[in-house]
Parts: sequence; C-alpha cells; structure tokens
Amino acid sequence: MILITGAAGYIGSHTALNFLNAGYDIVVFDNLETGHIETVEALQKIGCVKFEKGDLRNIEDIDAVFSKYKIDAVIHFAAFALVGESVENPSKYYRNNVVGTLNLLDTMIKHDIKKIVFSSTCATYGEPKYTPIDEKHPQNPINPYGMSKLMVEKIMDDFDRAYGLKSIRLRYFNVAGCDELSRIGEWHEIETHLIPNILKSTFGQGQTFKIFGDDYDTPDGTCIRDYVNIEDLAQAHRLAFEYLQKENKSDVFNLGTEKGSSVKQVFAECEKVLGEKIDVEITQRRPGDPAILYADAAKAKDILGWTPQKSLEKSIKTAYEYEKILQKK
Ligand code: UFG
Repeated sequence: MILITGAAGYIGSHTALNFLNAGYDIVVFDNLETGHIETVEALQKIGCVKFEKGDLRNIEDIDAVFSKYKIDAVIHFAAFALVGESVENPSKYYRNNVVGTLNLLDTMIKHDIKKIVFSSTCATYGEPKYTPIDEKHPQNPINPYGMSKLMVEKIMDDFDRAYGLKSIRLRYFNVAGCDELSRIGEWHEIETHLIPNILKSTFGQGQTFKIFGDDYDTPDGTCIRDYVNIEDLAQAHRLAFEYLQKENKSDVFNLGTEKGSSVKQVFAECEKVLGEKIDVEITQRRPGDPAILYADAAKAKDILGWTPQKSLEKSIKTAYEYEKILQKK
C-alpha cells in the first residue's frame, strides 16, 4: 500500500485520485486541520482508501499506521502552506513541516521503508536570480514556509547518505484547477490563491477581487507566475513514484509549464471563461511577492517523461465548477 500524508487536502487528494485510477491501494494519513473528511469520503467512493486520522507531530500516531499496514512507500504532502502565516508564526511551520516530517522519516527508517516522494516548492528558491528557474538555481528562501521545505530537502539528503532513504523532491510552481468531474477540488477555509479568489469574487458576497500591485517590472506591471494544472501535477507524482520504484535513487524536479502568465492575463482568461466582466481593484503589493517566477521543467520531461497537457483555461473552468459546489456548502 502507498501511504499518502495530507491527502484530505488539495494537492494530496488529487494525487491520491491519480493513484487510485492507476489501481493502487492507499492509506490516507491526515489530521483534518486544513483538509476535509468529505474529501477522504469522495476518494473512498473511487477506490481502496483506508483513512487514519493522526498528526505527524505525535510520533505515536504515525508509528501506529506503519504497524497496522504494510506500507511500500510514502507520498508526503501534510504541511502548512500559507506564506504570510509562516512569517507571523514561524514556530508553527517549523514544528509541523520540519519536526513532523522528521518524525515521519524516523518512523519510516524504523519500519525499514526507504522510499518517499516529497511535496516541495519553488518557494525554496527565494528571489529569482534568473528565469526560467532550473533545479540548479540557488535556494535562498525568503519566508519560513519556503525555509521549512528546504530544511526537509536537506534532511532527506542526509537520510539518504546515512540510512539509504531514497527521496524524490518535487518543487511545484503555482498549482491550479480541480478534478474534471468535480468530485474533489481546492477547498481552503482561508483562500489566498489567485484563481479561486478571482472566482469567489463573482459570487456576489461583497468581496471585490484585488490585484496586489501593478507597478512591477513586467510587461503589464503585474506579477508573472507559472500555473500548472493539478491533474498534470498529480500525474507527475505518479511518474516520480514509479521512477523511484524502478531506479531507487534520490532526485529533485521542478514541476511547471515553463510558461509565465501575469495576474492581469489570468484575470482576463477568467473573464473569458465566465463570459462576464468581473469587478477588480488595484491595491498595494503583497509583501514577499517576486515579480517573475516560472519554471525550467526540462529535467522532469527528460527523466520522468512528464509533459503538462492541460491549459490555463481548463484549470479555470474546472476551478469554477468546483467553486460553484463550494458556494452551496
Ligand atoms: N494575487 C492577487 N490577488 C489575490 C491573490 C493573488 O493579485 O487575491 C497575486 C499575487 O500577488 C501573486 C499572484 O497573484 O502575484 C499569485 O499568487 P498566489 O497566492 O496564487 O500564489 P503565490 O505565487 O504567492 O504562491 C504559490 C503557492 C505557495 C508557494 C509559492 C511559491 O501558493 O505555496 O507559490 O512562490 F510558496
């Protein structure tokens, strides 16, 4: 069985769905602090999904799961992921994302499980020195969230040297869209991401969508990001996992489309998909936003055979379908 931590959340659940469709049996481990039990239940309708509620900060919780099931490998998502919150409360991020992961890795070694795919981020690179960003770009995170993920990458290197733990670290750029059948989606109690925020603003609850700054050094003045579709991203996890099974060696890959879109371009695409004008106001820059981030993902293409297939339009359409469901909850 494959253990997927954090599979009640956005990226974890879509990856779980991909693994289920490929015929794998999975165990979901999640504390449901930001994930939802309804998401786990949706996965249970699709395939063999065992659910264990637990917290990585309690090593007994995770040890119990490894004692109960025969786990072959781990796909690890469980983490806090709000950049702004990590600046306000770094302790929460280091304790959960770093200490929690250390508990997981120690328990894996104890039970002789030595393969893990890890959810890392382009936030480990910090302010870009050049774009597109390849895997050799220096890693100097500018916030505790990015630093917590970088620390885990380093711990994994040391665990490989010392204990033979093999890890694939996947550094995502901006993830967007939802399951095409809307069974699961992007469901955050606190939503900070661009596309869901644009879409939410169209449901008439008084929140005008805000563009955080139009005075960046970019062609239209707004920040440029690389929006990779969630189903493409989930597929990359399975390719990475199968590569790890076959080659048994550690590596790191960027996951992005290699194409940048500005906030204004994404906004215009949303208006096109919805077929309506959306209210917008320009406000101040959000602290910590680099002007331009997009990936060089040639390595994932060459080694994993991963090529993202889905357009930004598809991501917006599926996100909108799921947003309609969320509005009724
Ligand atoms: N933006 C707005 N208005 C909004 C929300 C976002 O203008 O309401 C802008 C942001 O300022 C930024 C762009 O849209 O320029 C994208 O912002 P997101 O919050 O959607 O994504 P980020 O690029 O900030 O963050 C993402 C992931 C993080 C990860 C980071 C790495 O969500 O987990 O990429 O840079 F750390």
